[in-house]
Amino acid sequence: MTKIVFVCLGNICRSPMAEFVMKHLVAAAGLEKDFLIESAGCYPSIGTPMSDGTAHELKKNNVPFTRRASKLLLESDYKKFDYLIGLDRSNVRDMKEICGGDPDGKIFLLMDFAGKHRDVADPWYTDDYATTYDDCLIGCEALLDFLKRS
Ligand code: 4NP
Repeated sequence: MTKIVFVCLGNICRSPMAEFVMKHLVAAAGLEKDFLIESAGCYPSIGTPMSDGTAHELKKNNVPFTRRASKLLLESDYKKFDYLIGLDRSNVRDMKEICGGDPDGKIFLLMDFAGKHRDVADPWYTDDYATTYDDCLIGCEALLDFLKRS
């Protein structure tokens, strides 16, 4: 069982998008029982639903999702998950602060799996959820490839 948590700032836009894109890719590969996939935020307004833009973009791309409430990344999540994956570089810094560093090398930047050391586009100010979706898809496809090879 591989346990993954995607992490952004608010856990309402980017990390839930990555969570459901990854679940969709894993289901399409017939690997659902081998994975636990969740998402969390470093500074969420806890209990807030997924943003309308993220829900709309997932629907547009036929990616199934469930209603969910934002939650906080906890220090104990470092032990619980095998891969803690930040959507942007500031998330990665915040994750290391919350988790007390990264002694086991479990914290990653999503786009690094795709060979691109950059952030997933943040739709918060742009309302451009399509670019965020494209980034999540590229990152999650590369992540799944990496995990299949590991
Ligand atoms: P997320 O988006 O981190 O992708 O969920 C944001 C959510 C909330 C805020 C910024 C980004 N905020 O400033 O409240």
